[in-house]
Amino acid sequence: MTHRTLLNPLLTAYLRSGVIEPDPLLTELRHKAAEAEGEIIQISPEQGAFLAALVRICKARRIVEIGTHWGYSALWLASAAGHGAIVDTVEVDITRAQQAEMAFNSHPFGTEIRLHKGTARAVLPTLQHRYYDLVFIDGEKKEYLEYLNLCTNLLTKGGVLIADNTLHKGRVATPALYKPSTGVIVEFNRCLLESRNWFTSVVPIGDGMTVAVRIT
Ligand SMILES: C[S@@+](CC[C@H](N)C(=O)[O-])C[C@H]1O[C@@H](n2cnc3c(N)ncnc32)[C@H](O)[C@@H]1O
Repeated sequence: MTHRTLLNPLLTAYLRSGVIEPDPLLTELRHKAAEAEGEIIQISPEQGAFLAALVRICKARRIVEIGTHWGYSALWLASAAGHGAIVDTVEVDITRAQQAEMAFNSHPFGTEIRLHKGTARAVLPTLQHRYYDLVFIDGEKKEYLEYLNLCTNLLTKGGVLIADNTLHKGRVATPALYKPSTGVIVEFNRCLLESRNWFTSVVPIGDGMTVAVRIT
């Protein structure tokens, strides 16, 4: 099983060969989740390293994640943010949330993660406004525009929003291959790219990651 990527196999192998996961627990979790689910749903190791670099660049200490899955990306975020940071992560699927809970309980940075079981729609409005340094969106693709609305007010000025799968396996550039969720992703990217309130870059890593800085 390999992670989705838009790059050719040689470049992908090169990128992955240099990634060191923060510890063996993450490697084990990545393999266990992929095996149990029968497909790879979580971010790739090189995306984890990219997220960790962004966390460190903006010195993020308060982080929100939509879409915990088994907790792989949350653990990358928490490990990069360090002890005393907070990662609020939201997962709607109870079985996955239980797996994430087990992973957090056995990881040294799991104590910095608060797992919210429920929908992003229900949980995000309960979080503190203008409090978070970084938001990572990786939930249901059809809901990305709704997440954008719900997350904008959570971020401080200068806060960073990152969203995964924003090139949608290349579909965003191929209208004939559009799925209903592709239209939402295209609109999500457009809103951020055209807004004066954000400075945005769409990065071709993994399945595409949009990185936007809130400038107002
Ligand atoms: C791509 S996976 C997340 C992978 C995870 N971020 C990682 O890289 O380790 C998306 C997750 O979002 C969850 N999800 C879907 N819709 C959701 C919603 N409305 N609210 C919260 N979680 C949701 C799914 O159950 C799934 O586990």
